[in-house]
Amino acid sequence: MSEAGGESRSWKALASPRAWLLVWIPILLITAAHYGTGPNLAWAHDVLRRLYYIPIVLGAFAFGLRGAMIASILTSLLYMPHAFGGLHHYHHDPGASVEKLLELLLYNVIAGITGTLADREVRLRLEQQRVARQLEESLEELKAMEEQLVRAGKLRALGELTAGLAHEIKNPLASLKGAAEILSDEIRPDSPRRKMIDILNKELDRLAALLERFLSFARPKSVSITDVRIEEVIEPLVALVEPQARKQQVHVTWDRSGSDLTVRGDKEQLTAVLMNVLLNAVQAMPDGGEVTLRAEPCTRAKREMCLIRIADRGPGVPEEMKDKIFDPFVTTKEGGSGLGLAIAARVIDAHGGFIEVKDREESGAEFRILLPLKGADTRDVRPSHGS
Ligand SMILES: Nc1ncnc2c1ncn2[C@@H]1O[C@H](COP(=O)(O)OP(=O)(O)O)[C@@H](O)[C@H]1O
Ligand SMILES: [Mg+2]
Repeated sequence: MSEAGGESRSWKALASPRAWLLVWIPILLITAAHYGTGPNLAWAHDVLRRLYYIPIVLGAFAFGLRGAMIASILTSLLYMPHAFGGLHHYHHDPGASVEKLLELLLYNVIAGITGTLADREVRLRLEQQRVARQLEESLEELKAMEEQLVRAGKLRALGELTAGLAHEIKNPLASLKGAAEILSDEIRPDSPRRKMIDILNKELDRLAALLERFLSFARPKSVSITDVRIEEVIEPLVALVEPQARKQQVHVTWDRSGSDLTVRGDKEQLTAVLMNVLLNAVQAMPDGGEVTLRAEPCTRAKREMCLIRIADRGPGVPEEMKDKIFDPFVTTKEGGSGLGLAIAARVIDAHGGFIEVKDREESGAEFRILLPLKGADTRDVRPSHGS
């Protein structure tokens, strides 16, 4: 909250309506009352003299040492002529000189003490807020890392299962294909059975292609890590996606501010990953819109990383789908493979990076990919899970 923040300590705050209400107007009113009170009412002078402490202390709590000191100095200046003469046509405070002098001194001492205490309180509160925020961020980071680990483990297990299954299917499929070919050689082109054999061949080919796709997920290529400038990856990518985006009236905007960053990674695989995510963003807006791309440095898990954001204005990813979309074969698209994000997750994991999805304000999804920056500590980079 701004009240607890540093704003209430600015010069500008001293001219705010709040400052007038709490400090300046009360001081002026007390002064007016003081000057207007006759010397016969000694008790009223005593009360009014002490009333000044209220705006001074309020000034200290609301505006810190600066507010309090200005209030006390103003009070001293306003009160002095009334206390010790100088303006002869006004009444004087009939109190004893020592008492009045002491009061003048005390205004400033009290202002100094309360102002310092109030400032210290604000500083402590700001520090507490900062620590709380940091803690919250760390916690969120930890959660994201845990999710990523769980996801990576799940994907690895699924990959092994898929690879095993695909392998088992591959051999009988090859035999079937061989047998079908022999059969098709034996059946004359004009035979009515010819059509059956063609269907058989076509379906067997489809199965083989499907199997290949499964295997591409199950056995990702090993990564060969080099220094990769972000620009080298994004520049050709944007050019590649542009035609399809234009067809859909989607505008791809690349904020080049972070294009100088250099990450450690496999250029080819990173390009494929970003391509998948970027295409998803384009596909999420069938009626057009804007996709924004941006890279920036950030710190995650105490490592210097490059954060690549790919944000769209589509419908976003429903909460219950957020984790599932990184699983293989999860798709909401007709004819979708559901492999794009699963492969992306495996590749980014092999890079020692992170991939996550967040909601955008208003609408849309933002995919965030974090990769280790060049020169950063890379001890966390895991070897590929490939065969
Ligand atoms: N930018 C996005 N906005 C909304 N949903 C998305 C976005 N990107 C991915 N998804 C969801 O995640 C699913 C999985 O994506 P992906 O693994 O690339 O497979 P595919 O694109 O073949 O469906 C998509 O079907 C879609 O439901
Ligand atoms: Mg996709």
